[in-house]
Amino acid sequence: MSRIEYILGCFLVLCGLLGFVNPAFSAGNTAQPNSCVQCHSKLSESSFYGAKSHSWIGSIHQQHGVTCNMCHGGNPAATQEKQAHIGVLGSSNPHSPIYYKNIPATCGKCHGAEYYKFKQSVPYHLLQTTGRGPDCVTCHGSMVTKVLSPNDMAAVCARCHNPRMGVSPYITQQAKAVLLLIREGNVLLAAEKRLYPAPRSPQVAKTLTQAGIALHNAKLNWHTFHLDAITNYLLTFYDTVQKLPPAPSVSH
Ligand code: HEC
Ligand code: HEC
Ligand code: HEC
Ligand code: HEC
Ligand code: HEC
Repeated sequence: MSRIEYILGCFLVLCGLLGFVNPAFSAGNTAQPNSCVQCHSKLSESSFYGAKSHSWIGSIHQQHGVTCNMCHGGNPAATQEKQAHIGVLGSSNPHSPIYYKNIPATCGKCHGAEYYKFKQSVPYHLLQTTGRGPDCVTCHGSMVTKVLSPNDMAAVCARCHNPRMGVSPYITQQAKAVLLLIREGNVLLAAEKRLYPAPRSPQVAKTLTQAGIALHNAKLNWHTFHLDAITNYLLTFYDTVQKLPPAPSVSH
């Protein structure tokens, strides 16, 4: 056996082991075994249904024990496919919780504040009336559940907000700029918290709390799509951070 083959062999064995002990599929985070996770883990990752199920692994939802049935329904205690699937409907069925028009309400069961804001937005109205408009999974993914990068977000908006279609084309660049500011805010707030380690003076503690609230409001109001309102919350955030006293000297 050549050296390369040997290394490759070790690699494959290692992959096999990792796959075998993958805690995600042993449903280690949930108290009871979940038949959806157990059976779907056996579907090939290259199949449509398999790929969908596999992408949930490692997501923030998996980490917090938000299992398949919490979004799809069905019976996670039944081991037979037929029994487990009672109440589970595909995305093309208008009664399904994952039919595109129903997705905001499905996510909103747990994310009520974002859902409440989103319901007041122009895109939500467009989604319900014309079926065209971004919904929660457009920006967060269905099972990966992340937040799009500023460039990817701009690409989503540019599908409609572009000079050729003439629908408020300026929105694409504005949305990208606002999202960059939110991201910088996340980084800045984390850095300030490290700079003023606990125990904090009452003034520093209060200022950091106020900054955190302003940044949270900016994120929450992103879901109304009122980019000007979000910008105002971001300005409040940056103003508040300015009010912090000179940083204590940091010892390494
Ligand atoms: C014993 C195996 C098995 C169990 C248990 C199981 N599934 Fe499935 N599921 C499958 C297979 C296989 C498919 C592929 C489509 C088919 O053959 O019906 C599928 C398809 C699906 C689909 C797509 C349906 C469609 O019509 O597009 C969803 C959603 C789904 N399963 C969710 C769940 C949920 C939620 C649970 C737990 C409550 C669950 N499954 C339990 C094997 C299983
Ligand atoms: C946070 C909610 C959520 C969780 C948790 C979740 N899904 Fe999904 N799933 C969705 C949404 C929303 C869609 C439809 C959007 C899309 O296709 O991207 C979807 C699509 C699917 C599909 C394709 C169905 C179709 O008809 O297009 C399958 C299969 C599926 N999920 C299986 C699973 C399995 C198995 C798990 C657990 C391992 C799981 N899902 C966990 C929300 C969720
Ligand atoms: C059964 C409850 C439940 C449902 C349904 C649910 N989530 Fe979550 N979600 C959670 C929990 C718990 C967390 C982790 C704690 C937190 O951030 O609140 C979370 C976190 C998130 C985050 C934060 C990610 C991050 O990196 O901070 C996003 C975004 C998210 N969910 C989007 C969605 C979307 C989109 C849907 C619908 C497809 C959905 N959720 C459905 C419970 C749920
Ligand atoms: C047009 C894109 C877009 C849509 C549509 C969207 N979101 Fe968001 N969402 C964002 C952005 C941007 C953030 C903040 C990003 C960050 O923290 O960096 C966010 C943050 C979140 C968070 C985390 C909040 C926090 O304080 O950390 C949750 C939970 C969430 N969204 C849920 C939802 C739900 C539920 C829906 C549908 C009702 C939805 N989102 C629709 C873009 C979107
Ligand atoms: C599928 C097409 C589509 C996508 C994708 C889309 N929009 Fe829109 N959006 C529209 C349409 C159509 C209108 C209504 C335009 C009007 O009334 O002038 C609109 C209106 C808006 C408005 C209100 C504009 C105003 O002048 O009052 C905002 C804000 C907005 N969209 C933000 C966004 C953002 C941010 C994104 C990307 C995350 C996005 N949209 C993605 C189609 C879309």
